[in-house]
Amino acid sequence: MDGNGRWATNRGWPRLVGHRKGAERVKQIVTAAPDLGIKWLTVFAFSTENWRRSTEEVLGLMSIFARYIQRESDRMASEGVRVRFIGDRTKLDPKLRKLMSGIEARTAEFSRLNLTVAINYGGRDEILRATRGMMQDVAEGRLKPEDVTEDAISARLDTGGIPDPDLVIRTSGETRTSNFLVWQSIYAEYEFTPTLWPDFGPQELADILVRFGNRERRFGGVSP
Ligand code: IPE
Ligand code: MG
Repeated sequence: MDGNGRWATNRGWPRLVGHRKGAERVKQIVTAAPDLGIKWLTVFAFSTENWRRSTEEVLGLMSIFARYIQRESDRMASEGVRVRFIGDRTKLDPKLRKLMSGIEARTAEFSRLNLTVAINYGGRDEILRATRGMMQDVAEGRLKPEDVTEDAISARLDTGGIPDPDLVIRTSGETRTSNFLVWQSIYAEYEFTPTLWPDFGPQELADILVRFGNRERRFGGVSP
């Protein structure tokens, strides 16, 4: 979800106004997703690199996350949305962490839409944490090197139990992946749109899905 800052700056407004507008868009997309046939949706809210921003912006984003969880909890439950978070939580404020685990527990039985929110998430960081855990288990005799398979690694990532993405969309015209789902995206299809995230609506998502449906995915094989 890129482009909140530019959306606000273009209007002469503080960047946080763009982030608030961006959060409104998340609500709208989450509500529209199941009707578009989406069962799994991951949104990249805050990366391990986003701490480089000003304290004001970082704290503002964190308070938007906390408020979003508090305000959207009932709607998530009534719409059958299961919410999960990926990323390293140990660096987050304990109050935010409590809200995160609270909504995860409250929505754990739902499956109409599986919403994953990436906060303090980085693909490399996730692989690093999983690797450390495995090394620890090997050192203490709980895991044998030959048991370290691709599936075992996948299961140990924050996304354990969440399918690899079929489609990754980046808004705002940037054509990089910026540490998003590094291990999981090897065969994802990519879509880059110039639309800034606060302007990205369900109709554009629907158009992208039509294009996605027309792509031939060979997964390294050849056409039949
Ligand atoms: C939102 O857009 C991404 C977040 C980290 C929340 P940006 O804040 O990156 O917006 P731009 O790139 O400055 O326009
Ligand atoms: Mg950006």
